[in-house]
Amino acid sequence: MNQSLHQAYSATDFRQMGYQLVNLLADHLASRQEENNFPAINWRDPEEELDFWRKDLASETPSPPIDFFKTVLDHSVELHNRRYMGHQISPPVPMAALAGFLSDFLNNGMGVYEMGQAGSTLDKVVIDFVAQYLGYDKKAEGILTSGGTLANLTGLLAARKAKAPADVWNEGHQQPLALMVSEQAHYCVDRAVRIMGWGEAGIIKVPTDNHFRMKTELLPEYLAKAEEAGVKVIAVVGSACTTSTGSFDDLEAIATFCQTNDLWFHVDGAHGAASIFSKRFRHLVKGIEQADSVVMDFHKMLMTPSVTTALVFKNGSDNYACFSQQAQYLWEQQDQSEWYNMAKRTFECTKLMMSLKAYSLIRTYGAQLFDDFVSTCYENGQLLASKIQQHPEIELAVQPDCNIVCFRFVPMVKDKDQLCKINERIRRLMLEDGRFYIVQTVLNGQSWLRVTLTNPFTRGEDLQEMLSTVVRTGQEILAKAKR
Ligand SMILES: Cc1ncc(COP(=O)(O)O)c(C=O)c1O
Repeated sequence: MNQSLHQAYSATDFRQMGYQLVNLLADHLASRQEENNFPAINWRDPEEELDFWRKDLASETPSPPIDFFKTVLDHSVELHNRRYMGHQISPPVPMAALAGFLSDFLNNGMGVYEMGQAGSTLDKVVIDFVAQYLGYDKKAEGILTSGGTLANLTGLLAARKAKAPADVWNEGHQQPLALMVSEQAHYCVDRAVRIMGWGEAGIIKVPTDNHFRMKTELLPEYLAKAEEAGVKVIAVVGSACTTSTGSFDDLEAIATFCQTNDLWFHVDGAHGAASIFSKRFRHLVKGIEQADSVVMDFHKMLMTPSVTTALVFKNGSDNYACFSQQAQYLWEQQDQSEWYNMAKRTFECTKLMMSLKAYSLIRTYGAQLFDDFVSTCYENGQLLASKIQQHPEIELAVQPDCNIVCFRFVPMVKDKDQLCKINERIRRLMLEDGRFYIVQTVLNGQSWLRVTLTNPFTRGEDLQEMLSTVVRTGQEILAKAKR
């Protein structure tokens, strides 16, 4: 056999590299939890980063793999760092990362049962577990799939199948179709609508109140307007929660409206459906048990490596109706509801064994771990909000429902544009500094700083220091402008 193949598959090298990598990551984890001096991000401009990796590839004597692993670590955002407060993704529990490693090694495709027996079966076990916490009965079924974006699209395909007046899958649609969703919903809902060919008119954006929650009292009016215009509304999507501010729509009100009007009720709970596991915060998703379909990202709020998303249907048969295509080389009958042949119900043909990552957490730590994580992170959101409220130079955009908090530095500046520019500049300088990783958003046309507190080790002192850094950076910007 060719020498390079022998070397690439060497069990001896694998063992050595594996130990080295685990040691590297274990040291990283311990240091980030205990010490407070590592930057959460080592920022480099994209061109600089590209140049770096091109040079690395061009090197005539590549350094050993462990050096490459160390370099990637050094060039990556540190989710396990207590000062990581950026986007909605959680630091994976090492156990789940190891399960991911196992799944990458096995590489069982999982489109059909025989290509991934453990993976496919664990998909079902994990979905059944989630369905139980959602408050569904035995009829519920679902899939794990590659991200909230794809899961929302899949859920909405089921909505179309169930509620559209024609057989759109086979015949296309004549009558314009639409769904209603909060104007604050994640852009993937808009994207799903356009992918389904409903165009801009297919997404009816319902205004939000001053807490950025859907004004559900407007739903009848918006439905009537759509009907008058000849548009067939088939679904309402509830946000649990919104991306920018973490606001939870009133799911009970949406459920009632959908029942009254024979509409599909879909919940985009990519971030906040995980509240079902928190005894303290479960009330935020009251009514979720009435949804026809729910999306929940394990990688956002349940400590699981990306991407691991649950899409659960109250009536499992709706999942089988999403796609109806024959693939004779994979399975015989499309219309047989075989839970174990995943490709019948998912977009993916080759599918990641993501179930291993979620299941390893459930079997080892139980639902209590999810409760502890969600509750701790949401409580940190409340703690940060209370610190902001005591701070004369920082304004809170809205009282947070969960662990997403928006705020801004408010010096004695009257001009709104100037205020936006100062806060955008603060965020940029903090990114370049790297000690904290925070992000930004736009609310009512104005720029705000935004954090998602997904590291359960983040402490009050870290939050305090982050706020002090915001203020100090802002004051330096103002002082520089005066000079
Ligand atoms: C509410 C909401 N829905 C959907 C998504 C998209 O999920 P994913 O990134 O897993 O595709 C996000 C991501 O931020 C989100 O916040």
